Amino acid sequence: MEKLIPDEMRALCRVEDVPDGQGKGFPAVPGGFTGIFAVRQGDVVRVWVNSCPHVGTPLDWTPDRFMSRDGQHIICATHGALFSTETGECTLGPCRGDFLDPVVTEIRDGVIYVPQDAGL
Ligand code: FES
Repeated sequence: MEKLIPDEMRALCRVEDVPDGQGKGFPAVPGGFTGIFAVRQGDVVRVWVNSCPHVGTPLDWTPDRFMSRDGQHIICATHGALFSTETGECTLGPCRGDFLDPVVTEIRDGVIYVPQDAGL
């Protein structure tokens, strides 16, 4: 029997709503910048809190711009820190060795689910 999505999870979007190799932000409030963001690489989607561990600013300088030019890292627009798309660890920049806050995700039938309070 297939596991049901717990009540404490909410649907974020469909996997295909996040362009492959890029990110998509989900502001906590309409028009805001903070919240959470998803990065997709093929079938793998990871979700993070949109707050840089350096000084806490959102990572994107324009909506949905979370990836470095080469598409290999998450980048913070404020001071250019680079983060692993797999672990969220800062590998280059002023917060080297710190981590983005991961958001628990579950993908079911092509839909990404996150905790109700994620990024709020
Ligand atoms: S705020 Fe992100 S690198 Fe400084």
